[in-house]
Amino acid sequence: MRNESTRSSVEMFHVMDVLAASAQRVAEGRDVLSLAAGQPSTPAPAAVRAAAHAALDTEILGYTESVGLASLRATIAADYARRYGISVDVDDVVITTGSSGAFTLLFLAAFDAGDTVVMARPGYPAYRNTLSALGVRVVELDCGPQVGYRLTAAMLDELTEPPAGVIVASPANPTGTILHPEEIAELARWCDDHDTLLISDEIYHGISYGRATSCAWETSRQAAVVGSVSKYHSMTGWRLGWMLVPAHLRRPVERLTANMTICAPVISQYAALAAFGDEARTELDAHVARYATNRAVLLEGLADCWLTEIAPPDGAFYIYADISHLTDDSLSWCESVLAETGVAIAPGVDFDTVTGHQTIRMSFAGSTETVRAALARLEPVLTR
Ligand SMILES: Cc1ncc(COP(=O)(O)O)c(C=O)c1O
Repeated sequence: MRNESTRSSVEMFHVMDVLAASAQRVAEGRDVLSLAAGQPSTPAPAAVRAAAHAALDTEILGYTESVGLASLRATIAADYARRYGISVDVDDVVITTGSSGAFTLLFLAAFDAGDTVVMARPGYPAYRNTLSALGVRVVELDCGPQVGYRLTAAMLDELTEPPAGVIVASPANPTGTILHPEEIAELARWCDDHDTLLISDEIYHGISYGRATSCAWETSRQAAVVGSVSKYHSMTGWRLGWMLVPAHLRRPVERLTANMTICAPVISQYAALAAFGDEARTELDAHVARYATNRAVLLEGLADCWLTEIAPPDGAFYIYADISHLTDDSLSWCESVLAETGVAIAPGVDFDTVTGHQTIRMSFAGSTETVRAALARLEPVLTR
């Protein structure tokens, strides 16, 4: 009996295999220093946890409206005014099950099977794999070191025909690279001029090291903007994200989300009301200060080990490094480094199926002690 669809035969997210191998190692009583997980090592802010406790005691926690609690949508809309000085209406905001849920909804609402969507390589693999599962043709533009790891409007001019969509992340995963506000604006204008949907993944906003981030809606409300409480707000497991949806996609998104999920997790929605306040922000900005310290420690330590071919680590909490002098099989290399040293690292092949066999991604979202200890163990391996 055939019980498996062709569409499900997408690539595995290999970092998940690294995380499984790390868990196995821990279960065997051996230690792991993780530079692999793309998530904060801290719980949700205290104010959020208090709000969750209160909601458990006082709210029914039944379904909300499919697009999410109006109070949370208003809170998020107000946050755009604070951060970017733009006026966002409560009806522009749709609450989703993580930003992952937002991407699936946008892909289904905006693209048909056979449409073409453009993204950067290296890039976040779930875009590619989810689009492929939906029958959408993915064109990956080579955004390696030769172009500073940036996808620009000039590259879109080179395409033979305008795509249905372009996805861009800034700060990006795996590189951490931030596009200049004018680069985002140019992409947004190009997409408007060519009737292309720009999907701007802004889930790492709030985590940057001196460079300004910008919101695609500062230029065009025809773009779709995606956000999440996973990264800056340190709430990955709460599975809560949102998007700013262009007016013509509001109703299609609402129809799909009502059918597919009914609504995003409701306890998380109530808790997230406290995630955008001053109290949470003070706590979260202290995490960002620690990431900045970790980044400096890691950059210095890697330079001492001759690892200097790296993408501009402007934001997020990643360093994406070329290790072509060490291997041309990053997956096996990461497996053997984990076995030998207990340091978990993500293989670049997840993010770039062409040149990622010679790259790795290191996350510095853990403690500074973890980063220092991992460097000490990696030194003999990197300088071998
Ligand atoms: C660039 C990027 N977009 C989206 C996601 C999905 O995050 P979530 O579904 O937790 O919001 C991730 C997770 O690592 C990511 O790195």
